Formats: sequence, structure tokens, C-alpha cells
Amino acid sequence: MEILAVANQKGGVGKTTVVLGLAARASARGERVLVVDLDPQANATSGLAVWDPALTVDHALAADRPGAIASVIGPAGWGPAVGLGAVPSVAPASPSLAGREPQLANDPVGAQDRLAIALDGLDFDLVLIDCPPSLGLLTVNGLFAAHRALVVTEPGAWAVDGVDQMLQTIARVGQRRGRPLPVAGIVVNRLGRTRDNKYWYEQVREAYPLLVRSPIQLRAAVAEASAQSMPIHALAGRAGAVEAMEQFDLLLDELLEPADAGL
Ligand SMILES: Nc1ncnc2c1ncn2[C@@H]1O[C@H](COP(=O)(O)OP(=O)(O)O)[C@@H](O)[C@H]1O
Ligand SMILES: [Mg+2]
Repeated sequence: MEILAVANQKGGVGKTTVVLGLAARASARGERVLVVDLDPQANATSGLAVWDPALTVDHALAADRPGAIASVIGPAGWGPAVGLGAVPSVAPASPSLAGREPQLANDPVGAQDRLAIALDGLDFDLVLIDCPPSLGLLTVNGLFAAHRALVVTEPGAWAVDGVDQMLQTIARVGQRRGRPLPVAGIVVNRLGRTRDNKYWYEQVREAYPLLVRSPIQLRAAVAEASAQSMPIHALAGRAGAVEAMEQFDLLLDELLEPADAGL
């Protein structure tokens, strides 16, 4: 089982989009995928076509019991109509998660490892943790539970500064938990054709030549897939959807390469 936390303290850079794209392609290949939605905005949950779940990650974090997440997991609502052999599973989020964070902060023995405990004993091929856009205790829980962290950024001003801050947090979590947290990579998402986009993309590549993975380009089909709660390959007839699928496939290959080549 590979547990990948997808993080950036900034919102709107594409964390959820990358999680959904990777989940779609990995399950299309027959991998057993679990998406853990740690964001109270629950965008990954709705992207996976799960509505008003009775049990959510919030319950699993409150339980503070090994394997507690098993009881909140359900199948994505993507359905067989979209040509998938399998659909990802999801531990859904709800707005109540926002209230969990201050409660966790009051735990006298510390609560950074609630998610790690909740995932204990689980059996999936790939677990993708969609972190909220902050460096609060929910994201810290996501990082504590992960085998590796994937940083998503956009090719915009100060992307490098944001990534740098995220990498520092990842390193600190590794120290704090007494087990390094390797960086699976940095993905530049929503890469457009403008000179500005190319400039900022190059800045990220220059800053982290060994860590930058294949980018995901800006394409309407990518946004449409999430908005319509469908996997990207279900939109294969739309302009750019096949290219987007190929980019997620390539990224997945790079991320699942054995032995963290070059890191
Ligand atoms: N590669 C892309 N092409 C087009 N739109 C994208 C792409 N990536 C993300 N978006 C859109 O940008 C917005 C923010 O993306 P999202 O994944 O929700 O970011 P985050 O999870 O980091 O807050 C969403 O509306 C999403 O559909
Ligand atoms: Mg998100």
C-alpha cells in the first residue's frame, strides 16, 4: 500500500484535481484506490459523485482508533457507465471537518497522528490524501499518515515561495514523527501557453530540478470532469480530454516508479 498526501497550503492550485485525475487513472488500471478527503470543502467527495455521506473522515478522526476509517469508506458514485473496471473508494469529507481541527488542537497528548491511526491495517494499492489549503492540523494529519508527499502548485507568481514553505513543513513532519517523509514530487498544474506561465514553470524547475514531475496542462476538459463528477476518461470525446488522461497516466507512472529514483 502506497499512501500519498497531496498538499499545498494555497487553495485553487489543483490538489483536488490532481487527486481525482490520479485516482481515475489508477483505478482504470485495476488498482484498488482510496481517496481520503481531508478538506472541509469536500471537493474531492463531490468530484467522486458522493453526496451527503452519513459517515465521514470527521468520524474516523474523532474515533481515535486503529482502522477507524474502514467504517466511513464507500465507493465513488462514478458508476460502471463510465467504462471503468473499478471505481475508487472514498473516505468522504463534510463541512463538519472544519470544526474537528480546533478540537484536535485541544488534545492534551497531541493529535497529529489521528489519520495515521485511522488508516492502520487498511488494504488498498494506493491511498491518495487530498489535503485542505492550509498548514493546519488536518494537513499535518495527512502528512503524518503519508509514505510520501506530493506538492501541487500552479505556474504563477511566488509559486516557488509557496512550494518552499510546503517542503519545509514536510521536512519538519518527518523529523517530528521520527521517520522521514520523502517528497514524491512537485507537480505544476494548470500550465497554460502564456509566456508568464512558462516563466513561472521554469522558475519551479530551476529551483527543484530533481523534484519536478511532468506537468498537467490547463484544459477545459479537466475542470469539466470534476464539475460533472466524472472521471476524466468519461469525457474522452471532449477536446483535450485524451491528452489530459495521458498526462495523468504519465504522472502516475512517474510517481509509482520503484525506489524514489533520484530522491
Ligand atoms: N489542469 C486544469 N485545467 C483546467 N482547470 C483546472 C485544472 N486544474 C484545476 N482546475 C480548476 O481550478 C480550480 C481549482 O482546482 P482545485 O483542484 O479545486 O484546487 P485545490 O484543491 O488546490 O484548491 C477548479 O475549478 C478546477 O476545476
Ligand atoms: Mg481542494
